[in-house]
Amino acid sequence: MIVMGIESSCDETGVGVVEWDGETATLLADEVASSVDEHARYGGVVPEVASRAHLQAMVPTMQRAREAAGIDRPDAIAVTIGPGLAGALLVGVAAAKAYALAWDVPLYAVNHLGGHVAVDTLEHGPMPPAVALLVSGGHTHLLGVQNLSQPIVEMGTTVDDAAGEAFDKVARLLDLGYPGGPALDAAARDGDPAAIAFPRGMTGPRDAPYDFSFSGLKTAVARYVEGRVRSGAPVSVPDVAASFQEAVADVLTAKALRACRDRGVDTLVLGGGATANSRIRSLAAERTAAAGIELRVPKPRLCTDNGVMVATLGAHVIGGGAPPSPLTVATDPGMSV
Ligand code: KG4
Ligand code: ZN
Repeated sequence: MIVMGIESSCDETGVGVVEWDGETATLLADEVASSVDEHARYGGVVPEVASRAHLQAMVPTMQRAREAAGIDRPDAIAVTIGPGLAGALLVGVAAAKAYALAWDVPLYAVNHLGGHVAVDTLEHGPMPPAVALLVSGGHTHLLGVQNLSQPIVEMGTTVDDAAGEAFDKVARLLDLGYPGGPALDAAARDGDPAAIAFPRGMTGPRDAPYDFSFSGLKTAVARYVEGRVRSGAPVSVPDVAASFQEAVADVLTAKALRACRDRGVDTLVLGGGATANSRIRSLAAERTAAAGIELRVPKPRLCTDNGVMVATLGAHVIGGGAPPSPLTVATDPGMSV
């Protein structure tokens, strides 16, 4: 069975195609058009700009995916209905409905966060019971996964900024450009992660064990930099970057490990664009190895938003026997997992 996935929840227009054999999905096409460059001068994703870019990119991206997969039409279409930007989601969902109607194939509405988890199976095979840590510019979640045909459980999320958003904001403060995550990662390479003791949010005994907070950390970095500038002391950008990055990676991986322990699972899956971060990866690898937990990290291309993750989750949902969604299905921008 050939399943097509359509993704438009943020600034990536993605159309992916997989083949489903009843147990595993195989990647046939993965076409993505990004409007990230158009958002750069605003320092963040502008919803109106993203929606217009999706409108322009959707049909050409769809054509490229069909050509790459060598198919005329799929057997089913899966589409992200949420969470995400309302106007952006509408473009993908409208396109999915139109193609489903025109091709007379069933439509499956899926959750974006579940897609980030499911995509890992393309590289690493069927998913055992696991905890997933999703970190991107739009989300920071700890999820409990029994199997991909069943609903995923949200264990915790951020109470303020997403982790990637914190990277972007601190990078802006340090004049490193947008999107700031990769630039900050590069700057941190020459810095000392122990140079400045930045706070680890929500790690007190009375804090929710799986929730995150990054706005206090962001403020602490701003105060530190302002204080240095005011007193005429030099600011070491590499040291600030490395110390900030260490604080984020420490909290993310410590809470993810605790979630694995508490759920009694021995697999941790990473997903989302910010898992490209070198320190999040290396600390996750160190800590899972020490705890005897298997770490599964999709390649960077599959960690960022794309259509293949939607197709892969759609295939698992179909495999689990779920009925198709009605063509009246609505977007759900605030959808939980
Ligand atoms: O998944 P993604 O492409 O889009 C969203 O859904 O947000 O993630 C993009 C986010 C941005 O905030 C970007 O700064 C961050 O991921 N990011 C990184 C790195 N590469 C991308 N953050 C830290 N270190 C990186 N190497
Ligand atoms: Zn995402």
